Amino acid sequence: MSVNLATMLREGTKKSHTMAENVGFVKCFLKGVVEKNSYRTLVANLYFVYSAMEEEMEKLRHHELVSKIYFPQLHRKQSLEKDLSFYYGANWRNEVAPSEAAQAYVARIHEVAQSQPELLAAHSYTRYLGDLSGGQILKKIAQRAMNLGENGGTAFYEFDTISDEKAFKNEYRQALNELPIDQATAEKIVDEANAAFGMNMKMFMELEGNLIKAIGIMVFNTLTRRRSKGSTELAGAEQ
Ligand code: HEM
Repeated sequence: MSVNLATMLREGTKKSHTMAENVGFVKCFLKGVVEKNSYRTLVANLYFVYSAMEEEMEKLRHHELVSKIYFPQLHRKQSLEKDLSFYYGANWRNEVAPSEAAQAYVARIHEVAQSQPELLAAHSYTRYLGDLSGGQILKKIAQRAMNLGENGGTAFYEFDTISDEKAFKNEYRQALNELPIDQATAEKIVDEANAAFGMNMKMFMELEGNLIKAIGIMVFNTLTRRRSKGSTELAGAEQ
């Protein structure tokens, strides 16, 4: 028996998606307000999340359900490693650690892999389908906002072996629909996807504090510099 899980997930996570879009850090990112330190912290957190997800998917790649949504061409661990080396340098492994929210997210992934492997579909859907949807736009925003140019720092957004992201999303949705599950299991997967959106939001919210602090320091420095110069010009007119 199979159910239209792809539609159930899309419809069932609509509210969560809107909520995620409205988190301050995400909104700022879309407007091109990206603070490099917060961004690299996010990349580090994502590294721990994807490592957990991909480690478990790898272990379960012959599982009757997980095997159907096992697409190594989506895997992000290696591209995140490249980005971490770009942002933190060659010694990045000694510099990064998962935040509290990332630790909870990672723990949940391991937990479901052990007890209800079918729920990995929810985690895989929430991250990979989002990545395939926003990739190129987010890459351009990151490049522009952090003056990255073409030299690195955006490997995360590049799916080298997927030439048509839209077609691939459809292939993935079809795989979801072919999972041999009943309605009750499908509903559990939707619940878990909503929880995964929540875990992502928590990671973004943690960074909001850093971003606000960084903006505060920038404004403070600008204002105090102006005051010491005796100028009344507004911040933003800084040279
Ligand atoms: C402001 C931020 C975001 C914007 C503007 C955005 C935009 C979009 C758009 C336009 C689509 C539809 C693509 C299509 O129809 O093919 C999409 C799909 C999706 N996004 Fe986002 N997104 C954002 C944040 C997120 C976040 C934070 C997550 C999860 C961590 C996420 C997960 C998803 C998923 C899972 C889909 C696939 C929906 C489906 O077709 O089932 N998005 N997003």
